[in-house]
Amino acid sequence: MNGFGSSVGDWLIVVRAIHFAATAMIAGILIFRIGVAEPALRSARQAAQIFDMKALRIVWICLLVSVASGIAWILLQAPAISGLSFEEAMGSGVIGTVVTETQFGQVSEIRLVLAIVLAACLVSDRLAGTRWLGLVSALGLVGSIAWTGHAGSTAGELGILHLIADTLHVVAAGAWIGGLASLALLLVVTLRRQADGWTWLVHDATRRFSTLGIVSVATLLMSGIANAGILVGSLHALLVTDYGRLLIVKITLFVVMLALAATNRFWLTPALADSSDIGRERGAVRWLARTCTIELALGLVIFAVVGALGTIHPANHL
Ligand code: HEM
Repeated sequence: MNGFGSSVGDWLIVVRAIHFAATAMIAGILIFRIGVAEPALRSARQAAQIFDMKALRIVWICLLVSVASGIAWILLQAPAISGLSFEEAMGSGVIGTVVTETQFGQVSEIRLVLAIVLAACLVSDRLAGTRWLGLVSALGLVGSIAWTGHAGSTAGELGILHLIADTLHVVAAGAWIGGLASLALLLVVTLRRQADGWTWLVHDATRRFSTLGIVSVATLLMSGIANAGILVGSLHALLVTDYGRLLIVKITLFVVMLALAATNRFWLTPALADSSDIGRERGAVRWLARTCTIELALGLVIFAVVGALGTIHPANHL
């Protein structure tokens, strides 16, 4: 698969996948919190407080995982770039060179500062403005992933286009996947609490998320096609290269997620509004929580595929 052919390369894939997933989740949950949960749960204070407390706990866990996997990524990048074994790289000054003299290292320093600002915003979450500053830091943390991968090494004007497309791509990935996790959490919280008019709350939240979902999916698709156009370049390269075939696996998973999203939008969400049959409403909420969880699991598998995709020579380079 790549020049390493060794455990460093495998660990790099695992660490990148974990980092992408945790960082994307942070942005998605904070977007959902401000764009969906706050307006939808305005009239249900208790459900809103419980959702917020649980959502913030998940954001904290994801932030710790994102920082830890980010540091592991830097440590693994040293042997990956130098060709030394992990032990040799740890004993040499390569890490210093990676951190201070490579684009990856310099971007990682900026990303660490963004993570610290985000943590400060989460600590002072009740202060005015910190929710928005926290969201902006989270968007910067996920968007800057684009500068660490293939998009960061495309030269010239095409490079600017590639960076814009990839930044939109990872932010949209966060909004959709983190949003799915938040919706599943909101469904579970309201299902357990069953506050007055809870099915209406769920219907309102699901409708609002559906709009966010459509915008995220459209952005993912268009930016994904741009990414693929730049890094694959032809149908032939898509079909005959390792990179191309792995991208086909990714797109297939994406299509399955879209089918589940269509089920949510055209069957389950309308069923939530059928106040004549409370049993059907409850059933729809349970099914919605299940399909959101399956979609989320497929999204996490896509992050694993992307963990590998960024370590392979793009098809158009072969
Ligand atoms: C749920 C859906 C998707 C998620 C979560 C997702 C996530 C990601 C992430 C996190 C990256 C890494 C960015 C980087 O390393 O710079 C990425 C890169 C990429 N994505 Fe997606 N993506 C999704 C859908 C798509 C679709 C539908 C396409 C194609 C039409 C696509 C094509 C690509 C390509 C070509 C890259 C560049 C990989 C590289 O750096 O070599 N993605 N995606």
